[in-house]
Parts: sequence; structure tokens; C-alpha cells
Amino acid sequence: MRVAVLNGPNLNLLGSREPQRYGRTRLEEIEHDVRMRADQLGVEVEWHQTNHEGTFVDLVQALPASVDGAVVNAAALTHTSLAVRDALLAVGVPFVEVHLTNIYAREEPRRRSLLADLAVGIVAGFGPQSYLLGLEALVGHLRARAG
Ligand code: DQA
Repeated sequence: MRVAVLNGPNLNLLGSREPQRYGRTRLEEIEHDVRMRADQLGVEVEWHQTNHEGTFVDLVQALPASVDGAVVNAAALTHTSLAVRDALLAVGVPFVEVHLTNIYAREEPRRRSLLADLAVGIVAGFGPQSYLLGLEALVGHLRARAG
């Protein structure tokens, strides 16, 4: 089994970006922990981060050729991007939406996700742990589906 982890704008700045909100853990450290957990689960991971909406769309369009599912933190694109929504709809690859913060406890525009109703489920509010929980949930879902 292979899964992708897609990270959107500004997540490359984790560690120094608003640490009181997002913590001090860098994206590379989250990647490391996700790869360790994926190894334990017997799953291969491809990891991407982009600050560009069009590139994010390209990454989503490429999912069916390479993975069985995805963990998606589209960052601010979550709240704004019909293009990312359309791409996820077009490819139909199962994904779990993850966020470091609980977006439903934040400012009003962040309480809406344009992706959530397309997701298998959502994990939000557990910091870097959201990625691990999302990975485990996705793999559980894919394995149950495969029988
Ligand atoms: C985020 C929440 C978004 O609202 C924000 O734009 C991000 C990070 C999170 O992981 O908590 O960049 O997706």
C-alpha cells in the first residue's frame, strides 16, 4: 500500500511560524515521524509540500497513478480553493483531511472547509499528532475496504 501526504502553503515554515499556535515542530520532523509510523504499518509514503495552488492541484491530479490514498493538509487552501476541491472530486482518491489546529475553534473563515465533505474523515487540533492519527485512520479505512 502507498499513500501520499500533501501539505499546502506556509507549512514549510512550521517550527518558526506562529509557534504559540502551531508549535515548534518542523515539517521535516513531522515527515520523519509519519515515515516511521508508516514503516511500522507496512505502508510506503510520498511526501509533498507546495506554496502554490496550481501545484497542489497537479499533485492531487497525480494521486491515482501512484497511491491508494492521501493525508491532506491543504492549509489555507482548505478554506478557499474550489480548484483543490474540484481536483479531489475529479480523482476520487480516498483522503483524510488533517490540521494541526482545531479549525472549528478558530476565526470564522477558517471554520469552513471546502474539502471536508469529500474526505473519509477529518483529524484536527492535535498538532503534529494529527498527521499520525490521520495516517492510521486512512490505512485502517483502506485495509477495511480491501477486505
Ligand atoms: C492549518 C489551518 C489553516 O487554517 C491554516 O491556514 C494553516 C494550517 C492547520 O494545520 O492547522 O496553514 O491547515
